[in-house]
Amino acid sequence: MRHLLDTRTLTREAAVRILDTAEEMADTQHREVRKLPALRGKTVVNLFYEDSTRTRISFEAAAKRLSADVINFSAKGSSVSKGESLKDTAQTLQAIGADGVVIRHPASGAPDRLARSGWIDAGVLNAGDGTHEHPTQALLDAFTMRRRIFGAQASRGRDLDGVSVVIVGDLAHSRVARSNLWLLTALGARVAFVGPETLQPYGAREWPATVRHSLDEALREDAPDVVMLLRIQSERMHAAYFPNEREYARNWGLDDARLAALPERTIIMHPGPMNRGLEISSAAADSERSTVLEQVANGVSVRMAALYLLLSGERGDPRDRLPG
Ligand code: CP
Repeated sequence: MRHLLDTRTLTREAAVRILDTAEEMADTQHREVRKLPALRGKTVVNLFYEDSTRTRISFEAAAKRLSADVINFSAKGSSVSKGESLKDTAQTLQAIGADGVVIRHPASGAPDRLARSGWIDAGVLNAGDGTHEHPTQALLDAFTMRRRIFGAQASRGRDLDGVSVVIVGDLAHSRVARSNLWLLTALGARVAFVGPETLQPYGAREWPATVRHSLDEALREDAPDVVMLLRIQSERMHAAYFPNEREYARNWGLDDARLAALPERTIIMHPGPMNRGLEISSAAADSERSTVLEQVANGVSVRMAALYLLLSGERGDPRDRLPG
């Protein structure tokens, strides 16, 4: 792998390899000294053209724990506001010697453009582009599912064959839903997309997902192991898309009544940021079956794995090289 741009093109084998490498990274995070020397001398740039909390601090923590030098670039407050292009910004990063560029951008395809442009030699990691993909989010979600379902010790080498995942909400604008669909189905899971007709992605019926409009029907028919709630992305939508908050919460929100009716084994996931009281009640978000904070913690291990596999230039089993 030279770049990580999407999950649509990841094979089962490549995905399991990243998840297994993330398990190795997670093992190192319980030590007294959590830092590994794997990327010493490398420079990682976090290039963020959109706001972020989790993804940006997680990539920064991951790169620092691998001993890379990290430069955080936010388009707000930079020369982007003076009209500087992606090309000129990228060539500036090339001039300072970036080895890895983690990019979040409102335009779908911007990371792919950067990777194929020839403007930089760095490995490119997509940290979320428009409504297209958010591959490390899907990988950390799959990692979290594997650990919750099989346990950390029994996760290695496993896929998610037969696991039922119901993804609920603003699917039309969700790069998280798309990345999860491609990754989870490659790993053998069954995926249902649940939401109002206006918030289903165009073309979803051609995709390997069951499309439903009723959450109660999905909870009954799909017997989910995982219910994943999504934020309503009002910044990306025309007002006419959205039912209204009360109607949405009543029909598609994971409220206290639906929480109480979930089977014991079902876990609740949300990529964040959450809108409590709309797509998820506070009781659901804070319940023991919620993995919201585990997802954040696991994101560091998964992003360490992605950075390591892309930027270390090493081949083979990382267990042979990580300090024991
Ligand atoms: N899940 C996620 O991408 O969160 P941020 O927007 O805070 O990075």
